[in-house]
Amino acid sequence: MKKLQFISAILFASILLTTISCSKENESDEALSSNAGGTKSHKTGENCMSCHKSGGEGEGRFALAGSVFNVQQSGYSNAVVKLYTEANGSGTLKATLNGDARGNFYTTSGVDFTGGLYVAVAGTGGNVVYMNSPVTSGACNSCHGSSTSKIILN
Ligand code: HEC
Ligand code: HEC
Repeated sequence: MKKLQFISAILFASILLTTISCSKENESDEALSSNAGGTKSHKTGENCMSCHKSGGEGEGRFALAGSVFNVQQSGYSNAVVKLYTEANGSGTLKATLNGDARGNFYTTSGVDFTGGLYVAVAGTGGNVVYMNSPVTSGACNSCHGSSTSKIILN
């Protein structure tokens, strides 16, 4: 009987240890947001949320992320992404996110997409492109560069 208790105690301890070390390695709760000029991101054009999701290998669970390209097909530096409640930049501004120097924008801050939000992407020269239909997902590159064209600014 004593032996059994000893074995289960060891088992319990090792399960506990594994859990602790795993949660230490898993930094997916990290708070991250892109900023103008930043160069920490990578994989411009890929669907960030295929990795930066709960249980994914990427650091940080992104609520909103994607990429903006220039006409030469490389990352557009320092674009600004805005989410509104109405089309063409009207209604209430719900979120503003600065894209980085690699053309990527990302944030782990929650965005409420309930009912859909309208997207505007602004370039550094004041040029703006609007998505006509509302989005209900912050995984912009799940469509852009896949089922539809990349987000491009002149
Ligand atoms: C194939 C999986 C994968 C994809 C797709 C991916 N990432 Fe990552 N990302 C990772 C991993 C793994 C790390 C941590 C190791 C590293 O830095 O390479 C990481 C790290 C990062 C970091 C650094 C985090 C820190 O703590 O400084 C940023 C920022 C980032 N990714 C942004 C993005 C953006 C934006 C996209 C989409 C354009 C993206 N990632 C697409 C796997 C991915
Ligand atoms: C479900 C797929 C899907 C998702 C997710 C999506 N888009 Fe779109 N987007 C489209 C389609 C299709 C169009 C073209 C039709 C339209 O404007 O509604 C478009 C158009 C656009 C345009 C206008 C492009 C132009 O040249 O006029 C911008 C800018 C844009 N999307 C940005 C975004 C951003 C930023 C996100 C993430 C918050 C996003 N989209 C998420 C499918 C998607």
